[in-house]
Amino acid sequence: MQISRALSVTLHDYEPQAGDMRAEVLAGLTTNPKTLPCKYFYDERGSELFDAICELPEYYLTRTELAIMQSHAAEMATVLGSRGLLVEPGSGTSTKTRLLLDKLHWPCAYVPVDISREHLIKAADQLNRHYPDLEVLPVCADFSQAFALPAPHHPAARSVIYFPGSTIGNFEPDATVALLKQLLRLAGRKGALLIGVDLNKDRTLLEAAYNDAAGVTAAFNLNLLARLNRELHSDFNLKRFQHRALYNPAEGRIEMRLVSLDEQTVHIADESVHFRAGEAIVTEYSYKHTLPGFAALAAQAGWNVQKVWTDDRRWFSVQYLTAG
Ligand code: AVI
Repeated sequence: MQISRALSVTLHDYEPQAGDMRAEVLAGLTTNPKTLPCKYFYDERGSELFDAICELPEYYLTRTELAIMQSHAAEMATVLGSRGLLVEPGSGTSTKTRLLLDKLHWPCAYVPVDISREHLIKAADQLNRHYPDLEVLPVCADFSQAFALPAPHHPAARSVIYFPGSTIGNFEPDATVALLKQLLRLAGRKGALLIGVDLNKDRTLLEAAYNDAAGVTAAFNLNLLARLNRELHSDFNLKRFQHRALYNPAEGRIEMRLVSLDEQTVHIADESVHFRAGEAIVTEYSYKHTLPGFAALAAQAGWNVQKVWTDDRRWFSVQYLTAG
């Protein structure tokens, strides 16, 4: 681990290695059904498109979670207690975090954790300037791997992991348990978790959220192929694939796919991948949990749900969990 000064903050850098994109992509495209890892959505264009998704009228998740935070952040701060070390895995721009930071009682430090070094430093620097009394200790790391939390200037009463945005929904049940276990190791026995979890609801609403009228989600999904063309020199023709998002009630998840419109062969890094007409690549699962279902997964990882805040329609939840 390297410690360095960057803009106004001190960076703890675990120098996370980018996964082997070529190997992961080829592995996914040679399974049945074909798959692609959803983590590759987020190149620069993909991140811009995701920000645009968060503003869409059909995409209720961001708006609803923000409203829950606006209504209940003060109460959340009370249950989280004073002098906490606030840790945010996959912090991005830390927008929702500000709502929490504004209400927290004497937080001892804020630790944003992100794999993208440049964005992390910029966001941490901005927060540092906005909250001059708060120690901001950015960590560049892959949060699904083990890493140690930096020691704040003033000792912390406990570590509080903040994991908003229903990012947990993009993990399958076994991976959800594994990630929650990793967050428990990070938080420690006295630690807490504040997590945003999207809830199961009417399929019409769900499918509209992932098939918006403006076609932004379709562009986000297809951008994955544009990224592979650019970075792996593949020759996907984006006009010959179509975005599709359907709710699978048995699994409780939205399934996003790219469907081949006709029979075709795509070349990637010396390999040929054949598609039948109508054959699909699964690009993302987005789980919509029930409250008891999520509590059961959390319990498997050693977490106890202590408090749940939802909106009036019970579309989204922010949950407070403790270890044990
Ligand atoms: C990041 N994640 C929680 C989003 C979701 O809703 O599953 C990603 C997304 N995919 C399509 N639209 C948004």
